[in-house]
Amino acid sequence: MKASIVVHGGAGGWAGQAGQPAGDDPLRRALAACEEAARAGEAIMARGGSALDAVEAAVRVLEDEPSLNAGRGSFRNLAGEVEMDALIMDGATLALGAVAIVRDVCNPVSLARRVMTDTPHTLLAAEGAARFADAIGFPRCDTRMWPLHPADAARAAGDTVGAVARDRAGNLAVAVSTGGIPRKMPGRIGDSPLAGCGGYADNASAAVAATGDGEALMKLVASKRVCDDIARGASVQAACEATVALLAQRLGASGGLIALDRAGEAGIACNTPAMPYAWAGEHGVVRSAVRTG
Ligand code: GLY
Repeated sequence: MKASIVVHGGAGGWAGQAGQPAGDDPLRRALAACEEAARAGEAIMARGGSALDAVEAAVRVLEDEPSLNAGRGSFRNLAGEVEMDALIMDGATLALGAVAIVRDVCNPVSLARRVMTDTPHTLLAAEGAARFADAIGFPRCDTRMWPLHPADAARAAGDTVGAVARDRAGNLAVAVSTGGIPRKMPGRIGDSPLAGCGGYADNASAAVAATGDGEALMKLVASKRVCDDIARGASVQAACEATVALLAQRLGASGGLIALDRAGEAGIACNTPAMPYAWAGEHGVVRSAVRTG
């Protein structure tokens, strides 16, 4: 499948959630958000914008959707707090920005981008990230006012959001954002803000975004593994499937991957009951689907 942008709303169970209003199907909401995100990213690239701008814009849309585990929909930790992680990476230059344990920012992906552009560092966490946000006047919000994610009581929905894009100049980029796992220990950081684990982009191979059991994705350096397989000649779909299979076989873990290679060929794989995703294909037409594991 050829695409200019692929986004996902998280690999997971996506079963009906207790307390969910009738007719408010979380998977349907997730698919609608994915389509909106893909459309936002594709519109930027259609105007000549970069893949980096496109993935940031797409992930901001997903962070604003309360049914997804990122931004407004973030799971809470054991102390009942929101602690979010995000990453953005430019495949043309390998420039990278990430934040971890962010508590009072609506769109962590944009703070990650500012780490990339406005600091000599690649990852800022917790109090340091908050001080940096203060220093640059980054918009803040009170996450204590956000409603509980419907899946906080039972891990029924998806995990993490992500976007990969290839712009008209052939440059690749990735962005990832997450609330982590429900009932995590305060201070826990998952795969998402770690380059090569939650995401990776290199024009020489592919842009890859991961979702799923963060501790396992870290152990496999999952996103970089997919890039390396592609660099060695694997197809993008085969590379995604191989790493998802390894996740289950080696670590008994679950998750999913989306990827775009240099030719704009997309790979999508998961070993969970569902992973909603959307993509912009030929002529910018946006479509969505649910990948099943
Ligand atoms: N995959 C997101 C996390 O484990 O935090």
